[in-house]
Amino acid sequence: MQAYGSALLIAVLLLAGSVSACTYENDGAPLDVTTSTLQVLSRVPAPADRDVPIDQTITLRFSAPVDAHLIDSTDLRLFTGVLEIPGTLHVDHLERTLSFSPVENLRANLQHQVVLRRGIRAHDGSSLPAVQVYDFMTGSRVTPDKSSQPSVSDEAAQSLFNLHCGRCHGGRAPPAGVDLTSLDAAQRTMVGVTSDAGALRVVPGDHARSYLILKIEALFAFIGLPMPPDRALLSPEELRLVADWIDGQGGKSPLDN
Ligand code: HEC
Repeated sequence: MQAYGSALLIAVLLLAGSVSACTYENDGAPLDVTTSTLQVLSRVPAPADRDVPIDQTITLRFSAPVDAHLIDSTDLRLFTGVLEIPGTLHVDHLERTLSFSPVENLRANLQHQVVLRRGIRAHDGSSLPAVQVYDFMTGSRVTPDKSSQPSVSDEAAQSLFNLHCGRCHGGRAPPAGVDLTSLDAAQRTMVGVTSDAGALRVVPGDHARSYLILKIEALFAFIGLPMPPDRALLSPEELRLVADWIDGQGGKSPLDN
């Protein structure tokens, strides 16, 4: 039943996913933009789930990484009846997820409603075509033995930078002023420092808004060369390590501040 439902959903999404032209307003002047459709691939909790733990984080996985710069607190909201539950939003660029963490435990044994705003945008320009609303029901317990956030050891980050980056990013005049020969140097030349492209290289605690991740991946033409530019790209595990290192810089910075 569940499998059939999601197969159907995927088929519908694939049909809807073909490129469509749309027009939207920009300072009064209509702008013709061709965008494709952003798809929600999975939802936790799933629609109509019951007995959801009261400390549950709501997580939606998209077909493309959403642009964390464009996300605000009204993009994903949680209600029970008419009451809105306060919480914070977090984008994970590599997982392609947007999640909502309620500030307090949810109330037990109640129907909850997730509302996802139309127009949520991904880095590739695709956007969510319609409002999405779905319900789930809480149980009365917290998640059994919730594992804590993985933290990255400084040694792991240091040896990744040494292995893949240090041979260029060192010396008296490292490329773009980025020195990756030590973690101190990495922090000094990247954390809170504006890139040549104008965005912050590392936003402390928030890899999804850090230019460094986009630069390493070089997903878009305007970003230029990937890093490292001359050898194999970083593996997904190595990218994750860089993202976790960024997320560990100066603690969490929620998006809706
Ligand atoms: C073969 C040499 C080489 C290696 C290896 C290398 N880089 Fe670079 N890097 C460059 C050059 C050249 C530039 C400047 C041109 C550009 O921005 O594409 C640069 C630019 C950058 C920038 C600046 C982007 C900006 O616009 O502010 C960052 C950040 C960066 N590299 C990170 C890394 C990381 C992280 C690694 C390792 C995973 C790495 N680089 C590996 C040569 C290298």
